[in-house]
Amino acid sequence: MDPACLDYCLTEEEARQFKRDGYFIVPDVLPADTVADLIVAVDRTDKKERARMGTSPQERVNHFDFIGKDDRFLPLLDWYKTFPKVWGILGWHIQLYHTHMTVTPPAEPHKSPKKNGLGLGFHQDSGRINWDFDMEPRPMISLKVAFFLTDTSQPGRGNFYVIPGSQTQNAFPGRDRKVPPPNATPVLAPLGSAVFFDRRLWHSASTNYWTEPRRVLFYGYSYRWLRPRDDMRVEHHLDRCTPIQKQLLGVSYSGGRGYTSPTPEDVPLKTWLEQHAIHCP
Ligand SMILES: [Fe+2]
Repeated sequence: MDPACLDYCLTEEEARQFKRDGYFIVPDVLPADTVADLIVAVDRTDKKERARMGTSPQERVNHFDFIGKDDRFLPLLDWYKTFPKVWGILGWHIQLYHTHMTVTPPAEPHKSPKKNGLGLGFHQDSGRINWDFDMEPRPMISLKVAFFLTDTSQPGRGNFYVIPGSQTQNAFPGRDRKVPPPNATPVLAPLGSAVFFDRRLWHSASTNYWTEPRRVLFYGYSYRWLRPRDDMRVEHHLDRCTPIQKQLLGVSYSGGRGYTSPTPEDVPLKTWLEQHAIHCP
């Protein structure tokens, strides 16, 4: 793993924001040339997948399990400016459990927020995890890193909406999930930034009233014992992956037992952190 990542560990302020608000933004995690490359990969994948699924060019689409669909998506898995913050929150016993690429084309010109609304649908991530635990708050278990390939630093650009602090509330803190409660806010994430968020945070996508398509790549990380939410079609990546990338992509040298009682070979991230004197829970 790139040792440059040691300069981008989770800061005390980021840890405080994550605990209090359930999210934080990190600007400038991707340089302009990487953003440009990723946009080419996103547009290529989006076009191909829309054709396969018969989806119209105007519709907002989530392409799941995109990590294996283009080589350019692999380096973000353990990107030096974001990944240290993931282990800073979750520790070393982690994996990639889910990826989705969201492409929100501009709304048709005759539509407006006043006439057509914000297009919200607040939810917590991970489906049944929100039903199967009889406790409040439920455990976090996973988080997502969202890489913004579009400038959403202004409202109305298909922004990611959140209700800060709502990650500790099992019930939706409002009456209608399509209506923002008073404390809901659009996250103003600039081009090349990343948003880290707790999967329990009540959040939503929104309609894009800007001229540019809104493109965001979501990388979901969880503890290794969680069954992935995707098919994880990544076998073709494995030959050129580092041991830590293999851990993140779900390789276990100890079979099923290795996901709950890992050997050192199963979790090279632990060894790497110890070698670099990083204390991690
Ligand atoms: Fe979500």
